[in-house]
Amino acid sequence: MADRLTLDGKTAIVTGAGHGLGRAEAIGLASAGARLVLNDLAGPAVRAVADEITASGGQAVICEGDIGEWSTGEALLAAALGSFGGLDIVVNNAGVLRDRMVFTMSEQEWDLVLRVHLRGHFITTRLATGYWREASKRAGGQAVYARIINTSSEAFLLGSPGQPNYAAAKAGIVALTVTTARSCARYGVRANAICPRARTDMTAELMGPPPAGAVDPLAPQHVAPLVAYLASPAAAGINGEVFVVHGGVAAVLEPPRLRVTFQAAEHGSADGMWTPESIAAALGTAFPAHAGAAGADAVEAGLGAHAGFACEATLALASETIGFPADGAR
Ligand SMILES: NC(=O)c1ccc[n+]([C@@H]2O[C@H](COP(=O)([O-])OP(=O)(O)OC[C@H]3O[C@@H](n4cnc5c(N)ncnc54)[C@H](O)[C@@H]3O)[C@@H](O)[C@H]2O)c1
Repeated sequence: MADRLTLDGKTAIVTGAGHGLGRAEAIGLASAGARLVLNDLAGPAVRAVADEITASGGQAVICEGDIGEWSTGEALLAAALGSFGGLDIVVNNAGVLRDRMVFTMSEQEWDLVLRVHLRGHFITTRLATGYWREASKRAGGQAVYARIINTSSEAFLLGSPGQPNYAAAKAGIVALTVTTARSCARYGVRANAICPRARTDMTAELMGPPPAGAVDPLAPQHVAPLVAYLASPAAAGINGEVFVVHGGVAAVLEPPRLRVTFQAAEHGSADGMWTPESIAAALGTAFPAHAGAAGADAVEAGLGAHAGFACEATLALASETIGFPADGAR
């Protein structure tokens, strides 16, 4: 099994590797044997991570720059090919927050968060999958070694009320992951996403200080083993999945499922197609409180606390929360 976990001889890009989860994931990949191309905004943090890896006997080069820039993606791929002769693993992790309610959010706050998270994930994915597809073609159609680990968030699952930009970007990242998994599997690509929880600069205000004198279940290094596993040969059978991970917990999300299906013909439609009356009859059975005026008022009053598509099951995975009470009320 150990040889199925090793990343010896593999080259990995990690974006946002200067702090928090990216730093922990880069160090975890290096410990498993990978050679690293580390990206972050220019500054001492990412250089310190590279120094830490090389001081422990690993190999790391840095490639600074805004991951929302196409040229940064090109420079990352060039650094992997130039320094290590190939690319095997991409960990998309870089991120920023600009939290605000949807009714007060500026277009700049929306654009920045979508740009760094979703466009940032797209740029590296586009360039890496293009490289792997060509490599597969050159190998006569053989699958090549190729792993993408993307970073989504429970904010998307929960519909985090103060993070419309972030939740939308993280939803987009899940869709990008699934489409990459489906479209590139034939070339050897395995693309999966994680929804981590960790005490980092990003969440410091929300999560507060770590517990004194005890293992911190929200330390970012608890997320790194899953990332290293998904990057490894052992994870060849995992593709297009979404994980929630923190502390000692890892959960795999169900794909969305149909809750209920309506047939117009069963709700008073003469020709089997929808009419205003038949759709009202059908939905009235599924959402009965909407049927009467008094019921509708009651539902209107409570709608702020509930959204039908939100997934709150992950809240029960640990008592530590990311700003939502564990009972889901908010
Ligand atoms: N910490 C959590 O609980 C949590 C929960 C869910 C998802 N996430 C996601 O995990 C990822 C890492 O977050 P973190 O908690 O470690 O935050 P962090 O703030 O500690 O680290 C984010 C890193 O991304 C870098 N970065 C920001 N903008 C960049 C850009 N344009 N180009 C390149 N690098 C850039 C930052 O400099 C920083 O080093 C993010 O995508 C975040 O959304 C974190």
